[in-house]
Amino acid sequence: MKQVMSEQVDELIQDPTKARAKATHMTIFQALMEGGGSGSSVPLSRDILIGEGLTIVGAALETTSWILTSAVHQLCLNPLIQRRLHDELVRAFPRGGRDDIYEIELATCEKLPYLTAVIKETHRLTPGIPGRLPRVVPEGDRWLGMTADSLEEKYLVPFGKGSRSCLGMYLASAEIYITLAVLFRRFKFALHKDNEMTGAWVDHFMTTPDGQAALVVSAAEYDD
Ligand code: HEM
Repeated sequence: MKQVMSEQVDELIQDPTKARAKATHMTIFQALMEGGGSGSSVPLSRDILIGEGLTIVGAALETTSWILTSAVHQLCLNPLIQRRLHDELVRAFPRGGRDDIYEIELATCEKLPYLTAVIKETHRLTPGIPGRLPRVVPEGDRWLGMTADSLEEKYLVPFGKGSRSCLGMYLASAEIYITLAVLFRRFKFALHKDNEMTGAWVDHFMTTPDGQAALVVSAAEYDD
């Protein structure tokens, strides 16, 4: 990863005009090097740029992909919950129109109680980054019903709080909603016989599956 990042940064430092022409939009590196168009430009060293790149990739990629992996794993372990999620998604996004298709929209996904509960429970069970806060919760469908909002406000802070809270939380949340909705609207997942992931994880700043354990699943397409 560091190698790839170093190559990108070197390319940018050696020929910023060429790098700018190649990109279709302002990149994070350009924003850092040029002050993002604000007119305030502070020269940053090669090492700092590489470090910033690695931080963004680590903070953004590992966290979101881990939450998604974990959600798929948990839903394979709990087929009844997976079925309930699929049913909610079918009701929210029914097939229709001349081509008998459905479209998944983020705004609708965010209003779905069961999908939201699945995401919150995944954040609780396997947080994107490790922390020392105790995880004490009531029994049952804890993220559904009257108490869910107050419970979340007080106790569920997967993106941190305050001035140093996660910079990418809205992007991450959108990615998680859309990805899970698309996957579980269309496919029924089950653990494959080659699956290695047990659910044990270790603290490597990001929570990661223990050892090299890979999640291997099979998917069957629904026809509803
Ligand atoms: C499920 C996904 C994610 C989780 C659970 C998560 C969680 C967190 C947490 C707990 C923090 C520390 C907040 C604190 O210190 O109080 C943080 C910081 C940060 N996150 Fe995320 N994050 C996620 C996705 C992302 C994405 C997609 C991006 C970027 C596109 C991102 C960028 C950052 C950055 C830059 C910081 C440091 C902010 C600062 O110190 O000012 N994160 N994240």
